[in-house]
Amino acid sequence: MEEEVEEEGPMTTISRHYFGDEPFCSISIIENIKEDYGQFVWPCSVVLAEYVWQQRFRFSGASVVEVLGAGTSLPGLVAAKVGANVTLTDHANGLEVLDNMRRVCHLNELNCNILGLTWGVWDASIFSLSPTIILGADVLYDTGAFDDLFATVTFLLEKSPRTVFITTYHNRSGHHLIEFLMIKWGLKCVKLLDSFSFMPSQKASGLSGNLQLAEIVLNTEVNELKV
Ligand SMILES: C[S@@+](CC[C@H](N)C(=O)[O-])C[C@H]1O[C@@H](n2cnc3c(N)ncnc32)[C@H](O)[C@@H]1O
Repeated sequence: MEEEVEEEGPMTTISRHYFGDEPFCSISIIENIKEDYGQFVWPCSVVLAEYVWQQRFRFSGASVVEVLGAGTSLPGLVAAKVGANVTLTDHANGLEVLDNMRRVCHLNELNCNILGLTWGVWDASIFSLSPTIILGADVLYDTGAFDDLFATVTFLLEKSPRTVFITTYHNRSGHHLIEFLMIKWGLKCVKLLDSFSFMPSQKASGLSGNLQLAEIVLNTEVNELKV
């Protein structure tokens, strides 16, 4: 269920996203369709947000959940709503995206940390993070950025062997992209789901394409061999 309401101008809308049957939870997102990638809600974000909602007991009370390339931040906001301590991150140069995150947190009365974090860049921001769950919706779309993204994810996973990276991606090629990246980065995929296997039917009917969800952890066997 999703409703769109025009806000400040013809290019800016507030979309409302509902979770649960009643519905029990709703999140409002400010979207700007004329701006860049980070200012509207991508289908992968709708899928990941639904997964967070369905797994809410796992997120409730999680010490920290970080979101990479969060953009309009729907999954992270659902995590915050169910009681996780959330840091939302996006490209450090994406000031409008980061500003929009602040406005969206305010709109939903949610208190999240907002941080500029560019994949593959080792500045103070990344050293301040110790997540137990990392979320990333539609961050696997530019093959030229895969190594930077996975360098950042692997760094965070190595901080704690129990940390998990949960990501949704649009498998446009049909190839086993995730498997290749896992081997390269010493990671392993512990869960791989087709989004249609868990999305409620009214939300699934609005989605198209091969949207997958993967849970990824450090492959400790491979990493022990490296030592
Ligand atoms: C396709 S959008 C997905 C946004 C949001 N997660 C969603 O699904 O609606 C990709 C996001 O990754 C961010 N991004 C792209 N390159 C990045 C980089 N090198 N470092 C950090 N964030 C990056 C973009 O700013 C954008 O918000």
